[in-house]
Amino acid sequence: MTDTAPIEHPSWLTGGDFTTAEEPFRLFAEWFAEGKRAEPVNPDAMALATVDADGMPNVRMVLLKAFDERGFVFYTNLGSVKAHELDRAPKAAATFYWKTLQRQVRLRGTVEPVSTEEADAYFASRSRMAQIGAWASKQSAELESRMAFEKAIARHAAKFAIGTVPRPPFWSGYRIKPAEIEFWQERLYRLHDRIVFRRAEMQAPWTKTRLYP
Ligand SMILES: Cc1cc2nc3c(=O)[nH]c(=O)nc-3n(C[C@H](O)[C@H](O)[C@H](O)COP(=O)(O)O)c2cc1C
Repeated sequence: MTDTAPIEHPSWLTGGDFTTAEEPFRLFAEWFAEGKRAEPVNPDAMALATVDADGMPNVRMVLLKAFDERGFVFYTNLGSVKAHELDRAPKAAATFYWKTLQRQVRLRGTVEPVSTEEADAYFASRSRMAQIGAWASKQSAELESRMAFEKAIARHAAKFAIGTVPRPPFWSGYRIKPAEIEFWQERLYRLHDRIVFRRAEMQAPWTKTRLYP
């Protein structure tokens, strides 16, 4: 394998020296906005890591649906493997990678369910087909055939033919409350820039450390 050539960063990617940032949320917001401009497909995708009862890690992609100083929110089926793992061990790590920008963000923290109001509001904003799909999917359970899934979709489409589709009781979101957020920017010759923000608890101030790449 040959090394990937470093990219010329587009002119709009000014940002200055990100390592001077004093707190992580504003910097994340900037990088996320630039990620959305640069990546045509799923710039909001993050790899979400959890652990099972034996401490065996599990990782899969989910979509970031909200973030603010309280944390990073994604939605899922509460019967899924990830939900069971989070209910048992409510801690997670997540990683974003915006290839075009050659940037990675990693975060780790404790996890808590979002409020019913927040989940209801997000569910209501989804397309009708996605709402019906949430009802029809027993995410991560064995599915005997595609046909069985399509029948379940048809059944729920008929059931909710009129009016709004309510949020299934088995579908909601989680918020990762980060204790650590790291920003990584590729630089020439693998001389990358890394900074990590850490805090001992949610209300504590962030400390920033620069790391060797
Ligand atoms: C780009 C991408 C985005 C995804 N977004 C979500 C998501 O937001 N929520 C979700 O439950 N699954 C999402 N999935 C599917 C998960 O990766 C995974 O297959 C599914 O949630 C089952 O995981 P589990 O068995 O570990 O619970 C996404 C997959 C990809 C590739």
